[in-house]
Amino acid sequence: MIKSLKDSILQVFSLVKDKYEHSSHAKRLDHILGVAQTAKKLALKYQVDEDKAYLAGLLHDYFRYEKKEDVLYLLTEEEIKECDQTPILYHAYAASAFYLKEIGTDLDIAYSIKYHTFGKLPMSKLAEIILISDYIEPTRMYKSCIYCRQLVEKGLFYTAIYVSTNDTIKLIQKEGLNPHQYQIDMLNYYEEVMKLELLDIIKESLNKVKASDINIYDSRNISPFYDYIVLATVNTTRQSEAVKSYLEDFIKDTPYKIRGEEGINTNWYLIDLNSVIISILTKEERERLDLDNLYSNLNEVDI
Ligand SMILES: [Fe+2]
Ligand SMILES: [Fe+2]
Repeated sequence: MIKSLKDSILQVFSLVKDKYEHSSHAKRLDHILGVAQTAKKLALKYQVDEDKAYLAGLLHDYFRYEKKEDVLYLLTEEEIKECDQTPILYHAYAASAFYLKEIGTDLDIAYSIKYHTFGKLPMSKLAEIILISDYIEPTRMYKSCIYCRQLVEKGLFYTAIYVSTNDTIKLIQKEGLNPHQYQIDMLNYYEEVMKLELLDIIKESLNKVKASDINIYDSRNISPFYDYIVLATVNTTRQSEAVKSYLEDFIKDTPYKIRGEEGINTNWYLIDLNSVIISILTKEERERLDLDNLYSNLNEVDI
């Protein structure tokens, strides 16, 4: 008989509880339950199966304090080789293998558990959820964890993955160690993805003030300064200023900053966000300058 997910959850819940509740690592149980709850909430928000998220959260640290010798039976030779180079991976690889051996067959759950420590590209949404839940669950009180928790609450999910990866790498380097290749790959990838999240915020702020003809151009290949150029049309300067104050408000306590803003003339307002530059123009000015034509060889970004 095939076990349902709900049955698996009950089974894993009692396994985890039995292991940790009266052990010297009882605090780990709070963390595990925190991860499972956080993952479930995020799954609901991002349309991922909540039961899968909850189950992966429950199981992710099941072998956190196990001796290496006691989990070797679960791992392949290749995995053992990999874990020997980075021993922190043992507990995650073992939990994932244990899941497939004893609990269920879902490969997404297995992947999310296996790579919850550093992440590993390509990440599924479930894997992203488990990774970030491990970092931001409510019992985590490190400054960076609290900061990332706030980012996720604001909807800046990818930004939080970038920041958590970056901060973890910095911590590792401070200890004189090298980051794992998976972490470096994650950092590079999410640095790009988080820019799209910023574009989302920009687009929302432009929509809020009823700007029209919003075009986003990918300028990564032609500009050493900006990755994206945003053009939008407004009727009055007041709308441009409203965009700026909306953005300013939203990006407070995030890694994003307005580097500068400038009214070139009454018809053209610029907001510089480091990787993105926004030009807000009146219809006449936009036609006169013909910027869309200037950028016509660039790819448009559709978000
Ligand atoms: Fe872990
Ligand atoms: Fe954990």
